[in-house]
Amino acid sequence: MTDAADPLDAGERLGAEELRALQLERLRASLRHAYEHVPFYRESFDKAGVRPEDCRTLADLARFPFTTKADLRANYPYGMFAVPRERIRRLHASSGTTGQPTLVGYTDHDLSVWADLVARSLRAAGGRPGDVVHVAYGYGLFTGGLGAHYGAERLGCTVVPASGGMTARQVRLILDLEPSVIMVTPSYMLTLLDEFERQGVDPRGTSLRVGVFGAEPWTEPMRREIEERFAIDAVDIYGLSEVIGPGVAQECAETKDGLHVWEDHFYPEIVDPVTGEVLPEGERGELVFTSLTKEAMPVVRYRTRDLTRLLPGTARVFRRMEKITGRSDDMVILRGVNLFPTQIEEIVLRTPGVAPHFQLRLTREGRLDALTVRAEARPDAPPEVRQAAARSIVAAVKDGIGVSVRAEIVAPESLERSVGKIRRIVDLRSGDDG
Ligand code: DLL
Repeated sequence: MTDAADPLDAGERLGAEELRALQLERLRASLRHAYEHVPFYRESFDKAGVRPEDCRTLADLARFPFTTKADLRANYPYGMFAVPRERIRRLHASSGTTGQPTLVGYTDHDLSVWADLVARSLRAAGGRPGDVVHVAYGYGLFTGGLGAHYGAERLGCTVVPASGGMTARQVRLILDLEPSVIMVTPSYMLTLLDEFERQGVDPRGTSLRVGVFGAEPWTEPMRREIEERFAIDAVDIYGLSEVIGPGVAQECAETKDGLHVWEDHFYPEIVDPVTGEVLPEGERGELVFTSLTKEAMPVVRYRTRDLTRLLPGTARVFRRMEKITGRSDDMVILRGVNLFPTQIEEIVLRTPGVAPHFQLRLTREGRLDALTVRAEARPDAPPEVRQAAARSIVAAVKDGIGVSVRAEIVAPESLERSVGKIRRIVDLRSGDDG
């Protein structure tokens, strides 16, 4: 789809006005497709008193009802599909850690668009045809592994389908096959870092040049940590299975200034998470997506629960989304103060003597919730530095977020390591409040 002399594909070369016109045309067709082929959308549009043809401008989309994860669950397994089951070429499902899994499906055309968009993402990240790409996102029902895989093939790369886990073997493969690009969750990249060090191999000395990290929130200090420890460029990739999988938005290597949303296929809005009101450009809120080209499972105003804001395009014509602060479901409300694991990550990573591994433990004491930040000491940190680190984390949380927490600096290698998406919050509160 691209070549070295002309690195951008046709969608990326659109002018701003051409892009808006294309979006409106695709949006109208997509609303019609959903309304005509998915009983759920027919009912929800009818109930809201809107018809696909009422969408005459992009702003009219705000008149259409939202779709939530609960709607997908209620229509499990095949109820949200807009094509006969025989035309569905592949199924994926979300992890289902919070209940029934949500199933998603793709036609041949959807799979092809997805591969194109992951290829576009990989190219924006600095990957090029001919690169060896190590894919350590999990393969299977999760969209990470196979999504990355077919995109890298589409770009013309040599793919190593390592999947997640078997960490010692991952290091061996990286040393032997000399990939220049790795695609993996940032937390699993840290697990790989430990393994390099355990094997006595300098992680800065590998063939890796670019890391494409996503599937979980991560911060600027984490980018610096990974870039320094591995001597690579670390860029952010975003996506969710309900919308397509990885490759909904991607950070460009040349600017590293947030993720360009591939708006020719997914139309973003930011809404107030409580009222559902569309917020003005630049304000922070919940990200909502409407698919513009999907055949098998169109989504209309899908509530991602991810919190971010939209900014104008830089390296591409498409708008950018700021790095995700977190999901509304991961927000801890501690004595009336809202707190996200990413805020703690920023504090932990700038605290001397502490490794980039941490966990948040929620407990209940009497009628009050308490939070303990458990962070690992760096192996070379002496006891006095560890004590100072605990005090400094407590002070930084109090000053920066405005709430009192405890901090515990635990021994190196004592916290559970990630093999995929990391779970930062360990909730030990029991139902009764004593
Ligand atoms: O995580 C798809 C993916 C795979 C994206 C590989 C990037 C790389 P789900 O399992 O459906 O799909 O989870 C989607 O993960 O709503 C966000 O909360 C979170 N997420 C994904 N990418 C990022 C990111 C895949 N770059 C959910 N930053 C989303 C922050 C992310 N959170």
